[in-house]
Amino acid sequence: PRVMLLFGGRSGEHAISCSTAGGVLRAIDRTKYDVVPVGITRSGRWVLVDDDPDAWSITDGHLPEVLDGPAQVLLPQSAGDRDLQVLSNGAPPALLGSVDVVFPLLHGPFGEDGTIQGMLELVDLRYVGAGVLASAVGMDKHVMKMVLAGHGLPIAPFTVIRPGEFDRDPQVWTETVAALGLPVFVKPARAGSSLGITKVENLADLPAAIAAAQQHDPKVVVEAGIRGREIECAVLGGRPGQPARASQPGEIVVTDTRHGFYDFEAKYLDEAGVQLTCPADLPADVLEEVRAIAVRTFDAVGCEGLARVDVFVTPDDGVVVNEINTMPGFTPFSMYPRMWQASGLSYPDLIDELVELALG
Ligand code: DAL
Ligand code: MG
Repeated sequence: PRVMLLFGGRSGEHAISCSTAGGVLRAIDRTKYDVVPVGITRSGRWVLVDDDPDAWSITDGHLPEVLDGPAQVLLPQSAGDRDLQVLSNGAPPALLGSVDVVFPLLHGPFGEDGTIQGMLELVDLRYVGAGVLASAVGMDKHVMKMVLAGHGLPIAPFTVIRPGEFDRDPQVWTETVAALGLPVFVKPARAGSSLGITKVENLADLPAAIAAAQQHDPKVVVEAGIRGREIECAVLGGRPGQPARASQPGEIVVTDTRHGFYDFEAKYLDEAGVQLTCPADLPADVLEEVRAIAVRTFDAVGCEGLARVDVFVTPDDGVVVNEINTMPGFTPFSMYPRMWQASGLSYPDLIDELVELALG
């Protein structure tokens, strides 16, 4: 099959998406797949790019980026027309031909939120992963929580601050947040990789934390801090008529206390400061509970293909769902492919499975 790897994009997770693409480019079996690497620049231009995985890695703190290039990729102009074209400076459009499946390796808004998915639906191109609605629900931490709670899944106490609300009545909002108990996590509703997130231990720091989150999204979610172990579980969609499958859960332990939590730096820039273990060292019944809740979360959101479900295992409240990511990272630092490896599915086989599910 011919697979378009689509990455970069307009979100704050542009560089992480490039690193994810590097991970997939390194693992994908080139004897089986004809890979068409397409980058989206920060301003949203689609260009043909280098397919060398090393061009897209995070090295020595340097974050990769899709730069504008001469070969602009044009999508099919209508459903039924599967052909992509390449427009090069001055030259007449050249035919790139059709692709069998698009792998939208995009994180964050304009990629993981249903927008790209909607565009691919419009031109009738098949793609890996969640559809329009599940992507949009998974991106928005507020709506995600409503959907999970509506399905009876365990979530932590939270409050939502809509655009302008905090500034209109900071005192009332500060009391509302205080009632959650400190610390709280202040998050942009729609972002990823911990961008714009602040752990607030002191109410005096709340206004600055809200302003930081609003840099990414005018809607802000404030969550009660959960005392528990940070556990993740990878989910793969079911083959037709079959239920979704959960991997062995993994655990994240931030060992370097300079990171107050599993923040952007700890995730991608400090390999030594974080310990990733899979399977997590938990009793068998707890591992099973995490896996069951991961599948229920995947189904509640209506996901397809893949997702990673992040939970807390707490001493008093059992398993609490933190969030679902409909296009989890595939970077060398990321848990999703690792958890499948630890569950007996190699990285190249995982890619085969994802493509087959999309073509299914
Ligand atoms: N948002 C990042 C890429 C993740 O969930 O892995
Ligand atoms: Mg996330």
